[in-house]
Amino acid sequence: MPFSDDALDRLRADAAEIIARYPRARSALLPLLHLVQSEEGYVSADGIRFCAQLLGCTETEVTGVASFYTMYKRSPAAQYQVGVCTNTLCAIMGGDQIYAELAQHLAPGDGGHGHGHGDIVSADGKVGLERVECNAACDYAPVVMVNWEFFDNMTPESARQLVDDLRAGNKVTPTRGPGRLCTWKEASKILAGFGDGQAADGPSAGPASLTGLKIARENGWSAPPSGGAPGGRPPGAGTVPAPQAPAGGQGGSEK
Ligand code: FES
Repeated sequence: MPFSDDALDRLRADAAEIIARYPRARSALLPLLHLVQSEEGYVSADGIRFCAQLLGCTETEVTGVASFYTMYKRSPAAQYQVGVCTNTLCAIMGGDQIYAELAQHLAPGDGGHGHGHGDIVSADGKVGLERVECNAACDYAPVVMVNWEFFDNMTPESARQLVDDLRAGNKVTPTRGPGRLCTWKEASKILAGFGDGQAADGPSAGPASLTGLKIARENGWSAPPSGGAPGGRPPGAGTVPAPQAPAGGQGGSEK
């Protein structure tokens, strides 16, 4: 759908700010794609054309980038994109089962089989379900993402409750990071480089992520010096920074 005049004014102003951050305009393509996605919820043909004209690229070049990365949607995304990690560790910890049960829950009759990436949307259009790859949160597997915020240590039951709450409009709080969950369009605007002031909010590193550091400290282990021989320094020769307590709630790895 063509952008309205108001939308175009808004997009052009934001795009100018993004492009000014780079020495070459075409380097701004990735955040620009997030920007147009924040307007329509996906990267439309008009969004492709907008980026190409501003950056002096062909529409084919822009399409090649937009179709390569799964974070860019080529059809309207749901208000809440639920990504179940089905990469190796999460899969064996229950991710495959969570995906299958959510698929059945959101699209009864399909059985949760045969679905690829992002091809299940709830009847009300509020929740989209897709498989995602490792989000570097394996210490809290199985992990579910909603608009790229973490929901850790999930079960089929807690995942069903999560999507039911999203559909009902109930408040949902990510396990880590900010307390307020953004919509898909809001998250896309943040990824375009326009923060919402929540980047430093909420718990970050938690006990599971800091276990290796705790063991190292207990044993006096430290990292080898830069450029030094393999095997590391003798015990006590280096320092290991103290683990930081999570700001609250259940913590995890840095985002
Ligand atoms: S395998 Fe799921 S977060 Fe790493």
